[in-house]
Amino acid sequence: MKRILVALSIVLSSGAAAHALDREQQHARALLEEFCGRCHAVGRTGQSPHRYAPPFRELGENKLYDADFSQRLQNGLSSIHPDMPTFRFSQRDAGAVTEYLRAIQSKARR
Ligand code: HEC
Repeated sequence: MKRILVALSIVLSSGAAAHALDREQQHARALLEEFCGRCHAVGRTGQSPHRYAPPFRELGENKLYDADFSQRLQNGLSSIHPDMPTFRFSQRDAGAVTEYLRAIQSKARR
């Protein structure tokens, strides 16, 4: 009986993990909280602290699937808009950030 319960809890917890953020996305989220979170809402809920900064979940797929987006994260975000401070992400971090942002889009279609 005990063994069955253990097996069951493994199945249940791996099912839950499929909906959770993977490690790369968690890393990306932490980066975004650190560098962007004082202006943008970074998660799936909440208001942006800066009133003109769009919550990241509302950026929309078109922008994120733009092949350019991850490149722009690497080049520095001042290329996205001028009054934003410049940040440069490594290629790996830029990829993780782009994946994370795709995952939280409120209108995500997969
Ligand atoms: C000092 C506040 C501030 C910080 C920090 C900040 N942003 Fe922004 N961001 C804004 C504001 C305000 C806007 C909307 C006005 C605009 O587009 O100029 C914006 C808009 C954006 C947009 C949409 C631009 C577009 O072309 O529609 C993206 C993408 C973005 N920010 C990404 C980021 C990322 C990623 C970070 C962290 C690395 C970040 N921002 C940090 C203030 C900020």
